[in-house]
Amino acid sequence: MSKHTNTSESNTAQQQLHLQTAISQPIRQAPQYIHTVQTPIYRASTIIFKDTDALNNRHWSDDYDYSYGTHGTPTTYNLADQITHIEGAKYCLLAPSGLSAINLVNSALLNTGDEVWIPDNIYSPNHDHLVALQQKYGVVLKFYSPTDVDSIQFSAQSKLLWIEVAGSITLEFPDLATLIKKAKAHGVTTALDNTWGACLAFSPFDIRDTNNANKSNDSEKLAVDISVHALTKYPSGGGDMLMGSISTIDKKLHLELLRMHALQGIAVSGDDCAQISRSLSHMALRYQQHHQNTLQLIPFLQSRAEFAQVLHPSIVSHAGHQHWQEICTTGLGAGIVSVIFKAEYQLEQIQQFCNALQLFHLGFSWGGPTSLVMYYDLKAIRKLPTPHLQDGWLVRFCIGLEHADDLIKDIQQALNTLQN
Ligand SMILES: Cc1ncc(COP(=O)(O)O)c(C=O)c1O
Repeated sequence: MSKHTNTSESNTAQQQLHLQTAISQPIRQAPQYIHTVQTPIYRASTIIFKDTDALNNRHWSDDYDYSYGTHGTPTTYNLADQITHIEGAKYCLLAPSGLSAINLVNSALLNTGDEVWIPDNIYSPNHDHLVALQQKYGVVLKFYSPTDVDSIQFSAQSKLLWIEVAGSITLEFPDLATLIKKAKAHGVTTALDNTWGACLAFSPFDIRDTNNANKSNDSEKLAVDISVHALTKYPSGGGDMLMGSISTIDKKLHLELLRMHALQGIAVSGDDCAQISRSLSHMALRYQQHHQNTLQLIPFLQSRAEFAQVLHPSIVSHAGHQHWQEICTTGLGAGIVSVIFKAEYQLEQIQQFCNALQLFHLGFSWGGPTSLVMYYDLKAIRKLPTPHLQDGWLVRFCIGLEHADDLIKDIQQALNTLQN
């Protein structure tokens, strides 16, 4: 059977073939004129070349040059284009999870002897990946305090600075503008984990230089070099999907990352991309609601005697509150709030509290409709002193899209079990 151009021709051709042959051949090609609201789903390992010229002239870095499933399809590039747009970037790569996007940055940029600086509140699997690179390949890992830019002392070996805004679990909001300027002054590449802000709280490639003397709105804008986003969270919005993105504005850097992306065979499925593309149009509405629900919970949490501290960037006493105000001019702050129980509460009571919750479920991740809870031993996860944090077990609430009143009642009844 020859290449098919229309269905009636191909049906006739198929009739002359054995069924097993006909059923193994591609049949229908989408016509140019069909236009649907959602992007069609292309599933491909093999991509069929039109002819030998197309085969021989393909180029690995051309994203309209479809040549193999790992390279991408119109469905995967559609999502990459959407993410490029919302990040305010120029280039975007997709990876099968947020963690694999993080790992791509680490493995593409770091060589033996290079220093990588990470905040003490970093997403812990990123830390664990860097420890593995340190042990296997001699990358040098350095920690800085998310509340103190001066705790970074770059050297000639410094290569990469990771930034988390707000930091994982304890949500400190760093001095983003100073971090970027300090890294740029030393030729260090900045990689932001932009999952919390989701491109809605602030724009990673268009950040106000808040330390500029006059602090006017038209003050100089700053940009990170790389923005990594766990699309698993708010972009997916369902709690049922895994994906990550790596966005950049610099072509040379993008090509460096793309090269490693291709070498490692990093690829995402068309089905997953289509689901996330579909969810993106209502991400801003959902993010607003997660944020509003969280703001409604905060006064209640602050009123409870069981908690020594409530952690959220909107709270005036929170570490980095002023930076949050200056950077997140949208006033948004995602749907995560943590509490530190008073030190007298023991592990068994913390577990009793988590088990008593009915609407908050024990689980990692966030960004879906269902509220989640997780408990942490701060002393076990932090390396540097944390004078801004009280002693005690930390419980993180990831606020879903339920009604805030129901969530408050749920926490109330779970706290009441501690009195019994
Ligand atoms: C801040 C942050 N970055 C990255 C990730 C990794 O995303 P994924 O679960 O898609 O690997 C997570 C996941 O919890 C996260 O919280």
